[in-house]
Amino acid sequence: AKPKILITGGCGYIGSHVAKLLVQNGYEVVIIDNLSTTGKKIPYGKFYQVDLAVEEKVEKILKEEKPEAVMHFAASIVVPESVAFPLKYYRNNVENTLKLLSAMSRAKVKKFVFSSSAAVYGIPKTIPVPEDAPLEPINPYGRTKAMIERVLEDLSHAEALDYIALRYFNVAGADPEAELGPAYNQPTHLIIRALKTAKGEYPYLEIYGTNYPTPDGTCIRDYIHVMDLAEAHILALEYLLDGGKSLVLNCGYGVGVSVRQVVEAVKKVTGVDFKVIETERRPGDPPVLIADNRKIKSLFSWEPKFQNLEIIIQHAWAWEQKIK
Ligand code: UFG
Repeated sequence: AKPKILITGGCGYIGSHVAKLLVQNGYEVVIIDNLSTTGKKIPYGKFYQVDLAVEEKVEKILKEEKPEAVMHFAASIVVPESVAFPLKYYRNNVENTLKLLSAMSRAKVKKFVFSSSAAVYGIPKTIPVPEDAPLEPINPYGRTKAMIERVLEDLSHAEALDYIALRYFNVAGADPEAELGPAYNQPTHLIIRALKTAKGEYPYLEIYGTNYPTPDGTCIRDYIHVMDLAEAHILALEYLLDGGKSLVLNCGYGVGVSVRQVVEAVKKVTGVDFKVIETERRPGDPPVLIADNRKIKSLFSWEPKFQNLEIIIQHAWAWEQKIK
């Protein structure tokens, strides 16, 4: 049998897709999740409803289950919310990760895959942004991820811990089989908001800022299909299980798309010409974020399967229609 992998936040958006892919690849999966975001477990892996704040419980599970590696997805992820409620972010993303790492240290679990973010770069000077660009986050969310990256670097020198920090760009789309997908009560992400507007759940979509220094004035992002990202996690895990040393890797396609282009693509895929309103900039948004992905491509021969904005939107749309 393949090794046992423990996943925190395994019922969340990205964690659930990785859990499914791990199970399909023959891994034994154990999930820890407090269900704070989605409210329900997924049909993959063994499940513990536990909050990472409760360190003793996490330590007990780690000591009993003895996983080969931990993949840590549990976190708060909404940039504007982090600006309004920084303590929530420092506690959930920093304090709880420190607790998890402490429990892992005592349980002698030595391999770790960390969900980092392009938000660690802030407003990058080099586009596409390479991994060795300076970490200058411009919002609390990005700072929490940058802090944990520093902690991991220090820990990997002090203890026999090997980790991979994957810096996600804009994760979007859903399981092509429409069994899993994003499930937020108050979604803030562009593609989900646009699809729910097309569905009639919102009267209009707002475009936050049209005076950015970009060709059409709206922000540019590198949207990556959640299943391609899940694949990158499997490759990262295999690398660590094979004895690979710590790495930090961007996860994006290296292609930028503007907010207006996303809106047009959503209208095309859904066939709904929903109302769009142009409003003020949203605080904390960098104008352009595009990944330099040469490192992950050359190290892991990662080959994205769904590198196409319309396919990403189609899969997310199929999921939206299913959860109607
Ligand atoms: N946007 C709109 N209208 C909306 C929602 C979003 O115009 O209703 C715009 C945003 O202003 C931004 C772009 O669409 O310019 C993308 O916004 P998202 O909220 O979808 O995603 P972000 O780029 O803000 O955030 C994502 C991840 C974060 C990560 C960040 C890196 O969700 O976890 O990328 O900056 F930190």
